[in-house]
Amino acid sequence: MTKTILVTGGAGFIGSHTAVELLLRDYRVVIADDLSNSSAKAIEVIKTLGSADVSFHEVDLTDEALVAQLFDEHPIEAVVHFAGLKAVGESVEKPMHYYRTNLTSTMNLLSQMAQHDVWDFVFSSSATVYGTPEQLPIPESAPTGATNPYGRTKLMIEEICQDLAAADDRWRISLLRYFNPVGAHASGQLGEDPRGIPNNLVPFVMQVAVGRREKLQVFGGDWDTPDGSGVRDYIHVVDLAAGHLAALEKLRAGCEAYNLGTGNGSSVLEIIGTAERVSGKTIPYDVVDRRSGDIATSLADPTKANRELGWRADRNLEAMLTDAWRWQSMNPMGFAEN
Ligand code: WQD
Repeated sequence: MTKTILVTGGAGFIGSHTAVELLLRDYRVVIADDLSNSSAKAIEVIKTLGSADVSFHEVDLTDEALVAQLFDEHPIEAVVHFAGLKAVGESVEKPMHYYRTNLTSTMNLLSQMAQHDVWDFVFSSSATVYGTPEQLPIPESAPTGATNPYGRTKLMIEEICQDLAAADDRWRISLLRYFNPVGAHASGQLGEDPRGIPNNLVPFVMQVAVGRREKLQVFGGDWDTPDGSGVRDYIHVVDLAAGHLAALEKLRAGCEAYNLGTGNGSSVLEIIGTAERVSGKTIPYDVVDRRSGDIATSLADPTKANRELGWRADRNLEAMLTDAWRWQSMNPMGFAEN
């Protein structure tokens, strides 16, 4: 019997790549997305790449009646929850918008799941829950302590999930803490398409390479890192999607957190150099002051996911940026509606 999976935020960057992998694994996929930071064009691409149909609902998950309707209309057996606001800087300016959106939508989902006897939940969490790490690489047992409202919504949702699982052993929950997702589907038809000026490094670099932006600002050249620029654990979005399928298929009673990263760090200057090599373009940049809230290094210890989920990220930085460049060069304006 083909399982039906509800993918919230399934028109977005990680959600769309995960939806494709679910279709290829013969799941039936229902996508709920409010398209506030994504394009309906991604839905058509998902159907093509996944060689299967998808039920798409443009819906605001903060409206519980609409969430109930999803469960009434489809035999949903598990939920992979990506939908949510995710810009760190914006969350500092508009904390209530972030708490109301991210927390209400998730509580609506979890309530309706229980009311419809659905207990399998994979949550899109983030390494940002670790705040400023005390040890590197970062294990799941590291202390958590988000340093911005966005990160705090992720942490609060993790704690809500822990409490639900402690109260009722029918819940089977995986909290997936992403490090830095980058890259694109190898076809070049699906990729990262942020609205407005990209907050994140790789989409900004790719927009400079394709000529949409003049110059990159490197936030700090005096970090305690080998070349002075920030180091992060970049992970290919298709590896990340595979991590969601592994988590879904290995769900067991309770609530477990897993780091989805490679365990390898790359600096901003390394990203620039690799992007120039794979694109054949020059990426002009200025080294400027540090961005508030940034940390020097973030690096995953992915051994728990390797061991318990039987999952490992195996695409290297070259592959990540080669695929990111193919998407950007084939779609200079992304899905064009932005
Ligand atoms: C990476 C590196 C910057 C932009 C954020 C969120 C995190 C998650 C992933 C949602 C850092 C430097 C960046 C630029 C730069 N998002 N940089 N110039 O900050 O590690 O993580 O995105 O879950 O929650 O915090 O990613 O891509 O913004 O930055 O020099 O224009 O690139 O200083 O060292 P980050 P990032």
